[in-house]
Amino acid sequence: MILITGASSGLGAALARHYDQDGQAVVITGRNRERLRRVADGLSAGTQAKAAELTDPVQVGDLLDGLPRPPKTVIHCAGSGYFGPLESQTPDAIRALLDNNVTSTILLIQALVQRYKEQQLKLVVVMSTAAQVAKAGESTYCAAKWAVRGFIESMRLELKGSPMKLIAVYPGGMATEFWETSGKPQDTSGFMSADEAATMLKQALQSSEHGYISDIGISRG
Ligand SMILES: NC(=O)c1ccc[n+]([C@@H]2O[C@H](COP(=O)([O-])OP(=O)(O)OC[C@H]3O[C@@H](n4cnc5c(N)ncnc54)[C@H](OP(=O)(O)O)[C@@H]3O)[C@@H](O)[C@H]2O)c1
Repeated sequence: MILITGASSGLGAALARHYDQDGQAVVITGRNRERLRRVADGLSAGTQAKAAELTDPVQVGDLLDGLPRPPKTVIHCAGSGYFGPLESQTPDAIRALLDNNVTSTILLIQALVQRYKEQQLKLVVVMSTAAQVAKAGESTYCAAKWAVRGFIESMRLELKGSPMKLIAVYPGGMATEFWETSGKPQDTSGFMSADEAATMLKQALQSSEHGYISDIGISRG
């Protein structure tokens, strides 16, 4: 079973459709129940959709405890953007940005490690090229994604020897609702569609008995 966060929209929703078409059992989660339901309506009848605010540890715990069985793969796509010169950014929006990207990742991974540390679990965390390079006008978004990267790389060391594997994903620009909710007017006509990115990511997530791809860059071009 595959648990996909951020699946009410964008990359997460596209991945859910791809895995569902493959006949794999998928549980999707997001905050917005209506959008989540619309995605679930396009998937197999047995697909479970569970709303959860991932910045709330109680809801994260309830989400995992409500799963029909331990997941083999978790793909964490939930996140949000916020851009512009630092002097124009508001404290509340900066806090929300850090919560949606950093707190959600830490709480989700903490809850997964607490439950499944000794189990074979592929844990895929979607970051951004903004976790790899500095970008003017994206300082707080870069700060959030670099923080997630630091956390993931540290957790890899902490989980050394555990069958739980952390896979880092660094996508470039995708044409999704992300830009609308980030408040940044952006011409996304040259960006990857969520479906294109999901196709490439799903291919890269294939593993063999003794190996897996640990770091995945998805560049647009
Ligand atoms: N789009 C791009 O150009 C781009 C490029 C590089 C990296 N990324 C990263 O890729 C990931 C997916 O982005 P996307 O383009 O698919 O964005 P998207 O279409 O805006 O989807 C974001 C998803 O995250 C969920 N989410 C956000 N905050 C959450 C929270 N606190 N708790 C639970 N769910 C939450 C949203 O749920 P609701 O619908 O309920 O709000 C939605 O399902 C993000 O981490 C983003 O930073 C995006």
